[in-house]
Amino acid sequence: MGIHAMTGGATGIGAAIRARLLAAGHRVIVVDVKDADIIADLGTAEGRQSALAALRALAPEGLDGFVPCAGVAGHIPDRALLPSVNYFGTVDLLLGLRDLLVARRGAVVLISSNSAPGPTSEEYIEALLAHDEPRARELAAGIAGQWAYAGSKRALARWMRRQAADWAREGVRLNAIAPGYTQTPMTAAVEQDPTYGPPIRKFMASIPVGRPGQPDDMADAVMFLLSPAAGFVCGSVLFVDGGHDAMQRPDVL
Ligand SMILES: NC(=O)c1ccc[n+]([C@@H]2O[C@H](COP(=O)([O-])OP(=O)(O)OC[C@H]3O[C@@H](n4cnc5c(N)ncnc54)[C@H](O)[C@@H]3O)[C@@H](O)[C@H]2O)c1
Repeated sequence: MGIHAMTGGATGIGAAIRARLLAAGHRVIVVDVKDADIIADLGTAEGRQSALAALRALAPEGLDGFVPCAGVAGHIPDRALLPSVNYFGTVDLLLGLRDLLVARRGAVVLISSNSAPGPTSEEYIEALLAHDEPRARELAAGIAGQWAYAGSKRALARWMRRQAADWAREGVRLNAIAPGYTQTPMTAAVEQDPTYGPPIRKFMASIPVGRPGQPDDMADAVMFLLSPAAGFVCGSVLFVDGGHDAMQRPDVL
């Protein structure tokens, strides 16, 4: 069985992915701010460096899979955390683990969002893709939380698509899922927010398959993309959203 690392495995979607990987007999190393094998704050450069050092010490033989799942939602008061946790907390770890993934021809599944195509700032996305964290934080602090969230997730999908061919030549498949509305502690907090709550409930009611997503829906998609059954799937963003993206952007291709 394989050795997998992941971030954000303490709650929500990450906890479901962790449970699926363990049930499949894999060894799983979790990085999170709580309830994890490695406690680290991925919102800071120091936290990311300490997470990388600990991961490298725990899995010197390499990784069969990596799922950077930690993230924060757009309603948080400190919007500068959105680029730091969602984007740099993913990309910096991936860059730091590349050789370990190459060593075992690993598979990676990033967690974007079906809100990634939504309104955001292109200048902010450019700062993210230029790996300019101070500028991205400054721009995020000056735009709406949902824009800062959507931009962090669109930049992640673009980063993944730009890197996929290069990493594939070294044996590592990069893919992403774009979850739709999924009931987790993150969305429970948003549902209770006086500003975001009412529109979110209306949004939930519009999901074509007639229900919100559950963490296990996301874990199933991640397990497929990690598995040999997805051996020819590379550079894809899989929308797991009950049909919401198809409903909103039917002619995107
Ligand atoms: N729930 C949804 O509707 C939804 C939709 C699209 C995308 N997503 C994405 O899925 C991922 C998981 O979301 P969720 O809904 O399960 O949320 P969640 O809040 O339940 O889980 C997020 C996890 O990330 C960890 N985390 C947060 N900040 C961190 C930090 N600074 N350092 C380390 N770990 C940190 C948390 O402790 C937690 O375990 C996120 O990337 C989120 O953006 C969620």
